[in-house]
Amino acid sequence: MTTILPCGQADIPDIADLERRVIALPWGGRQLFAAFSDARYAFYKAVFCGDDPLGAKKAVFRGDDPLGAKKAVFRGDDPAGARKNALAGYILAEHVLDETNISSIAVEPALWGLGIGTALLGHVIGSERARGAVRILLEVEAQNAAALKLYQSAGFQNIAVRPDYYGRGRDGLIFEKTL
Ligand SMILES: CC(C)(COP(=O)(O)OP(=O)(O)OC[C@H]1O[C@@H](n2cnc3c(N)ncnc32)[C@H](O)[C@@H]1OP(=O)(O)O)[C@@H](O)C(=O)NCCC(=O)NCCS
Repeated sequence: MTTILPCGQADIPDIADLERRVIALPWGGRQLFAAFSDARYAFYKAVFCGDDPLGAKKAVFRGDDPLGAKKAVFRGDDPAGARKNALAGYILAEHVLDETNISSIAVEPALWGLGIGTALLGHVIGSERARGAVRILLEVEAQNAAALKLYQSAGFQNIAVRPDYYGRGRDGLIFEKTL
């Protein structure tokens, strides 16, 4: 079973490692640590917990590269222990008065397509609505099909384009969701 929890400072190295592997413009550990001690930022993580390690295992051992998938999630010498609290994904939200900026979201590659991104984003939508935020903004690369689907399914709409934001021919798209 996957659950969403606030991150602790001890999670930052794992977050930095994940973002380095899957984010186009990663923040890096130093910037993540700085954000963690800044009250404007809220970090949440998805972890495997509870009594359903088999569910987690099934999710990991799929596709054509079980060994690669296994390595991606079950790091370290204690696969059983690691599995229980392994970082499956994270989301970083920035509070800007009554608006929220999604600074980053990522899920372990071996676990893509299982609803973890949707769960992380849904958690932030709920908590930001409860905080009194009126809209959520984010920026995504135009070619990032998975992220575009994630945001569109959650009710975000494209409101602006940043041409070549990620490099020549790689536009950034600004998405908005009103709460
Ligand atoms: C974007 C990302 C967080 C999505 O996480 P995820 O856990 O795989 O997302 P979900 O399983 O909740 O899927 C969300 C939607 O995207 C769809 N989707 C997932 N992977 C997809 C893909 N490769 N291509 C097209 N659609 C995809 C799912 O079918 C689902 O659609 P639905 O709501 O209609 O069912 C994940 O792919 C990731 O970490 N990517 C690398 C980091 C990144 O690009 N972050 C975003 C930067 S702006």
